[in-house]
Order: sequence, then C-alpha cells, then structure tokens
Amino acid sequence: MRRGLIDILELSVEEIDELIACAEDIIANPEKYADKCRGKKLATLFYEPSTRTRLSFEAAMLELGGSVLGFSEAQSSSVAKGETVADTAKTVSCFADIIAMRHPKEGAPLVAAMNASIPVINAGDGGHNHPTQTLTDLLTIKREKRRLGNMTIGLCGDLKFGRTVHSLLAAMSRYEGNHFILISPDELKIPEYVKVEILDTGNVSYIETDGLKQVIPELDILYMTRVQRERFISEADYVRLKDTYILTPDKLKDAKPDLSILHPLPRMNEIPAVIDSDPRACYFKQVLNGKYIRMALILKLLEVV
Ligand code: CP
Repeated sequence: MRRGLIDILELSVEEIDELIACAEDIIANPEKYADKCRGKKLATLFYEPSTRTRLSFEAAMLELGGSVLGFSEAQSSSVAKGETVADTAKTVSCFADIIAMRHPKEGAPLVAAMNASIPVINAGDGGHNHPTQTLTDLLTIKREKRRLGNMTIGLCGDLKFGRTVHSLLAAMSRYEGNHFILISPDELKIPEYVKVEILDTGNVSYIETDGLKQVIPELDILYMTRVQRERFISEADYVRLKDTYILTPDKLKDAKPDLSILHPLPRMNEIPAVIDSDPRACYFKQVLNGKYIRMALILKLLEVV
C-alpha cells in the first residue's frame, strides 16, 4: 500500500504545519509550482455529489501542471455493473498517479487504499471523515488568526452526521489551549465514538449546549454546518431540525469583532446571504484555501517537493 490520506490523524502536527506552510508558499509564489506535476495524473472517483472538493482537487492538479481523469457519477462507470471499490482502485492504479475518492460508505476510501498501488486520498466517506476539508479549515484559521491554538471554537448544527466536524475536532484538539463549544440539538449531538476517541481522552476542554445566542460572545471561531439531509432516515425529522440554527445579523451583534465564521458549504438556511458581506464571514475564502491546501497535499503525496 502506498501512502495516502484517509484520516486526518495519520498526519502529525508537524506534517500539518508543513502542509500549511507549503500552501502559504503556493499562494505567495504560484509560478514556482506551475510545472511540479507535469506528466502526473489525478483520478477523482466521486460516488457521491460534490462541488468544492472535486473541483478544487481538479483545479489543484491542473495548476500544478498535471492532468485529471475520473467520474463524478458512479453510475456512469462499471460500478453500475457491480464492480467493487477494490477492483476499481486496482484498475485506476493502471491509469493514474494518485486518487481522490468520495464515497457514501464509511471506510470505502480505506478499502481503495488497501487495494490501490498509488496514494488514495479520502475526499469524504459517509458521516465519518473528510480530512482535506479539515486541512482547508486549518489553513483558513491559520490565515485568519495566525495561530491554531488558544482559541474558543464553536461548532454548530449537525454534529452527529457532520464528518467535517469530527475531523476538525480531531485536528484542533492537538493544538494547545483550544476550548470547544459544541452547539446542537439533542438529536444531532456529537457521536459517542468521537467523545471516546477524542474529547474524553483527558486533555480536551469542551462543553455541549443547544444555545447559539448565549455562547456567541465567547467565540473566536464559529464553525457552522448544514443539517445533513442525505443521512436522515426520516424526512420528517430532517424538516423538524433543519432550521434549528440560523445565524442572523441580530445574533452576530454580540459576537467579537474579530470572530471568524467558517462553513464547509454547501449551506442551506443556517447562514443567510446577508451575512456574506460581514467582514467576519470567511467561508468563501475557505473554498479558495481548499485548492491551495490540496495542491500542497498532492505535492507531498507524490513526493515532488
Ligand atoms: N465542503 C464540501 O465537501 O463540499 P462539496 O460537498 O461541494 O465537495
């Protein structure tokens, strides 16, 4: 098995810091990187819909001088005939140098990595992990705050199914002095396994609440999330919970002037468009940062820096 990235915890804090430094160098000196991946191919295998992750991976490889191939609809590939993830990974290893895979089933990118002869990057697996979104979030926080520790971070919305939240908690809890405020309705609280593996290990400071307005004045970072409709069994439950938190200008009146508002996107009603012009809104900067950090990751995994 070649090295890829399935879980953010496969990267040490030092490696994350190196990736962030590389992304910042790419932002400052894009011309230095324009030919680094000439002749290399990225395969994007997306079994689930995506706008940002797939297109930012593809833009990243193109800006490094490489090429892209793949599918954005599994049904247009031999998956429709019943081909397994393992066989797809073996097949694509014959054509590409690196794979980015999104799949609705938790663990599918790991199965691909165990069968591929090239690095596999998890581009989101079910409600489990989304490590490159976490790298995107970390780069954004670093660029906004110039630090990754000593902050109060509110994570708000669907903390049960929101895979970006699970990966972000895993990563940010390794930096000193962070305090997490987990804001969700009871039904969408953080899963028990995340508590056991990350939050309750003895070193992480956190509280759980269902009230956004009460805690907003304390926050340095507010990470909003959408309620993940596609992971609900009952549509009625989704409809009841989907608008639990809406970040109105009124709620933001009590927030710090240097609050950074992040969201992995896509958003539904939880951040109205009126907030976009607030200087604290960082979610579209976050989208762009996603391309740069994925460029850094591709370079690292292909060992071309
Ligand atoms: N943040 C994110 O994963 O967006 P997409 O689903 O559009 O890729």
